Parts: sequence; structure tokens; C-alpha cells
Amino acid sequence: MSGAAHARPAMAARAREVAIQAKGFLKEAEGDKLFELALEASRLGPCLEIGSYCGKSGIFLGDACRIAGQNPLFSIDHHRGSAEQQPGQEYFDPNLYDCVENRMTTLADFWRNIGRAGLDSWIIPVAADSSIVSRYWRDTSLGLVFIDGGHGEFDVLSDYGCWANRVLSGGYLCFHDVYPDPARGGQAPYQMIQYARALPEWEYYGLFESLGVLRRR
Ligand SMILES: C[S@@+](CC[C@H](N)C(=O)[O-])C[C@H]1O[C@@H](n2cnc3c(N)ncnc32)[C@H](O)[C@@H]1O
Repeated sequence: MSGAAHARPAMAARAREVAIQAKGFLKEAEGDKLFELALEASRLGPCLEIGSYCGKSGIFLGDACRIAGQNPLFSIDHHRGSAEQQPGQEYFDPNLYDCVENRMTTLADFWRNIGRAGLDSWIIPVAADSSIVSRYWRDTSLGLVFIDGGHGEFDVLSDYGCWANRVLSGGYLCFHDVYPDPARGGQAPYQMIQYARALPEWEYYGLFESLGVLRRR
């Protein structure tokens, strides 16, 4: 049998180009790993991310959903920015600030990018607070959850509490910005994954750059 028979489907060139150019914080290798995981996990059930921002991670995940052809990505963000993205903070981007409303807004960039990537039918934007959405989310279990919303202790714990138990057996729970070394970044996602990996329901799958991944047993 030829090697090509085993080749993993590749991301669409256009989607990849849009993802790489989109504003955001995800490294290319992390995006590729999300793509690989979602290709498998979206066959189990829909994928869901908390933290759409301008669509970078969503395009890697959403294009995998499109290729697998079964379930979409739900992408949750209130689009008002996290604490560290507000004026005066380390990750503030003045081009994403609405000077009329006096607040951050990433929805227009996100919407434009998923359209340019050809993923309007595969990425379902949910413009709301993650914990509010979870309160009304009923029976739909998920193939993959990617937590990249607020990075404070309370936010990460809340997102874990709201969404982790929706992951199906064999599905993935991913966290961005997992830094074992405190000198490299905030500790909330790292501490959360350390806690979760000690629980019997999770198997530690690995750390890829700063993308921490657990798999549900
Ligand atoms: C680090 S950015 C996400 C980056 C994105 N995943 C990427 O690949 O570029 C974090 C995002 O989480 C959103 N966010 C923070 N807290 C949230 C919450 N409680 N509910 C929904 N979105 C939230 C912010 O508005 C911000 O856009």
C-alpha cells in the first residue's frame, strides 16, 4: 500500500493563510496540533472553543471540522477582550478598540476572517459570556473543548467547571498558555491541567509548545 493511503488530510491553503495572518496568540505548531486533534474529535461530536478573539484558533479547528464533514465548531467569545487586553494592559491592541462605544471589540475581525477562510458553515459564533452559554447548554456532548478565554484563576476554573464534563469519552480537553515555568507566563492554565490530570477521568496526552492536552478515558 502506498504511503499516500495513510496521509492525513491537509488544511485548505486559503484557510491556513488566513489563520496565520489573523491577529492572535497561537503559534503555528499549536494551530497544527489543534487541527490534527479536531480532525479526529469532530467525528465524535461538535468541537467548542472559549476565546474566539479574531479567529486564529477557530480557523484551525473549523477547517478540521469541515474536512471531517460531520460536526461544526462552536466558538464562544463576548468579544470585549480579556483583562490583559484592555487599554493600558500588556496585550491591548488599539486597532481593536471601538472609540465610539469605548470598549474592545473583536467580533468584526473574527467574522471577516472566518468568511475569508470559507468556514461560515462550519464555525458557529456564540457572542456571549462562556458561563452564561454553559448554563443554557443542554444535552450536546462535545468531541473537543479548547479553553483559551480569560486567563485568571477564576476564569480558567470556571471554564473548566462549565465545559470539561461535556467532553465525550475519547475526546480532548485542551488549554492554551500552559507554562510549567512561572517565568514564562501566568500559572492558572498550568495549575488547572495539573489538577485535572490527577483525576481518573483524564489521561494526559501531552504539551505541545504551550498547548496542554488531556484525553477523556
Ligand atoms: C487569548 S484570547 C483568545 C485567542 C484565540 N484563541 C486565538 O487563537 O487567537 C482570549 C479571548 O477570550 C475572551 N474571553 C475572556 N473571558 C471570556 C468569557 N468569560 N466568556 C467569553 N469570552 C471570554 C476575550 O474576549 C478574548 O477575545
